[in-house]
Amino acid sequence: MLRERAAGETRVSATPETVKKFIALGASVVVESGAGLSASVSDDEYRAAGAEIVADGAAHGADIVFGVQGPAPELLTGAKPGAWVVAGLDPFAKRARVDAYAAAGVEALAMEFMPRITRAQSMDILSSQSNLAGYKAVLVAANLYGRAFPMMMTAAGTVSAAKAFVMGVGVAGLQAIATARRLGAQVSATDVRSATKEQIQSLGAKPIFVESVKGIEGEGAGGYATEMSEEYQKAQAELVSSHIAKQDIVITTALIPGRPAPRLISDAQIASMKPGSVIFDLAVAQGGNVEGSVPDQVVEKHGVKIVGYSNTPAHLPADASALFSRNLYNFLSAFWDKEQGKPVLDEEIGNAIRLTQGGKVVNERLLG
Ligand code: NAI
Repeated sequence: MLRERAAGETRVSATPETVKKFIALGASVVVESGAGLSASVSDDEYRAAGAEIVADGAAHGADIVFGVQGPAPELLTGAKPGAWVVAGLDPFAKRARVDAYAAAGVEALAMEFMPRITRAQSMDILSSQSNLAGYKAVLVAANLYGRAFPMMMTAAGTVSAAKAFVMGVGVAGLQAIATARRLGAQVSATDVRSATKEQIQSLGAKPIFVESVKGIEGEGAGGYATEMSEEYQKAQAELVSSHIAKQDIVITTALIPGRPAPRLISDAQIASMKPGSVIFDLAVAQGGNVEGSVPDQVVEKHGVKIVGYSNTPAHLPADASALFSRNLYNFLSAFWDKEQGKPVLDEEIGNAIRLTQGGKVVNERLLG
């Protein structure tokens, strides 16, 4: 396992717990010195788990190289020919790097392309990381907000509850609703998938849905949303305009795989909000749901604070690393072939996540 080199990346792709488990499967594990420090894991803890610690960022004849983000192709020169690179590879945005993996002769496996099927739930990095991101977004928004979340009746008078609105109710949105509720806010939420209505209600929040134009019934392909019609977008903008003006906190999480994030909040809508309100744009790194949001900055527009981290899970490095590492272990161990001493993938999952093989880019989603 190499140290992560991307700016702002604090997570790590193997913890002492998963190192121990890989060794129990029969693997040997090499860890670059200092790889875990930003997630509060020392070299000694990896050593105690059975890993060999090496000082340099080289692949040391590895069959499998782990990463949170994809390692630079030049770091892989020491890996075995055809070695696997298993990481979050951001294949659409980092296409040139995928080509470089093909040229380097490695087999790149993109963990974010894991199919959303029941048996792969424990291998799903998007879910494990989005869940933590939804939680953190609410805490950051609460911190920037100059008022309290819960209603408080005190001798000096009553503090009213904050009104929080969550836009996009996937994994991150559900956790954002639960967290804002736990802090005592009055929560409402919206999505384009009608299946989320019941989920919103079951968390004690109020669903705000476009009723005049059809949304996505049930689940879209793989549980994901697609781009909505112009008619739907117009109806959604009108509905949001009247609702958002009354909100104190807005958390946006809407994403469409392989496309820029849909624009959900305009500058005019921000201007309609009360000064002191806070918006957290969890989609800021994918182009943003909110007009004017800037990655890793707090921007103030019309008295409203707009914030969004380019890598929100990296702000909870220890838990994010623990869950990410377990996703990798759950994936590789499920396919471990004892005789060959390494994992052998089946077609359903292999074809979904394999980006490169035999010097070529082979993934349908990148070729299509
Ligand atoms: P995501 O991160 O791709 O998108 C977040 C949310 O934004 C989604 O709920 C989406 O419908 C919504 N959205 C997109 N465009 C929107 C718009 N214009 N306005 C409002 N909302 C919009 O989604 P995520 O979190 O990855 O989850 C998607 C679904 O997949 C969920 O139903 C989740 O339960 C399901 N899932 C299934 C898994 C499995 O079976 N292995 C694992 C994880 C999630």
